[in-house]
Amino acid sequence: MRIVKYLEQVLNDLTEFNNPKILDIGCGSGVPTLWLAEKYIGTITAIDTDKHLLGFLEHKIQRKKTSSKIETKNVSFFDLVTASECYDLILAEGFLNVVGFEMGFKRVIEKIKIGGYFIIHDEYKDHDSKIAIIDKNNCKIVNSLYLDETIWWRDFYGQLENEINKPENTHLRNLFINEIKEIDQYKKNPSLFKSIYYVVLKY
Ligand SMILES: C[S@@+](CC[C@H](N)C(=O)[O-])C[C@H]1O[C@@H](n2cnc3c(N)ncnc32)[C@H](O)[C@@H]1O
Repeated sequence: MRIVKYLEQVLNDLTEFNNPKILDIGCGSGVPTLWLAEKYIGTITAIDTDKHLLGFLEHKIQRKKTSSKIETKNVSFFDLVTASECYDLILAEGFLNVVGFEMGFKRVIEKIKIGGYFIIHDEYKDHDSKIAIIDKNNCKIVNSLYLDETIWWRDFYGQLENEINKPENTHLRNLFINEIKEIDQYKKNPSLFKSIYYVVLKY
């Protein structure tokens, strides 16, 4: 989700990290990435296969002068070469539902330190089987937050539609082509727009 108040809510209960090493997988245009950079004194690697979206993030990083903290990489997570050292915190908003939960989960937790966290924002679907996958991989859910379809409309799609429909904002229609399609899908079937944050501890 491109607003961060719910991410903020789930992260608030975590113990403070000392200079955490953070990976944001499928960062897109990086709204959560920039928020993480402001919240934590540490380093962030932000990766996405979409060069165009990553370009938006790079532009914002330059404007905010946070470039020393955030490294962007136009690479697939599955091709990411890292040193043997793992991450303290990995964020994946909307990544596991693209690549498949079980396979994606197993590959991501290999790159998290014991005692580190994996924050997943996922479609709300197959909840029980996902919990079982998390349990059987030496991980446990320490927090979760369910967002129903009314939240998605109130905090995201409804606001975006209002902005796009303003006569002075017609140029936004070209920038938000995918989101306009999502708004149409939402209107046809709002119940598909339910999501959940899982805060997972690797032990
Ligand atoms: C639903 S979007 C979420 C974007 C952003 N995290 C947000 O919440 O606004 C999923 C992102 O995952 C990226 N992605 C898909 N497969 C990927 C892969 N194998 N490695 C890295 N990024 C990937 C897509 O390009 C897309 O930007």
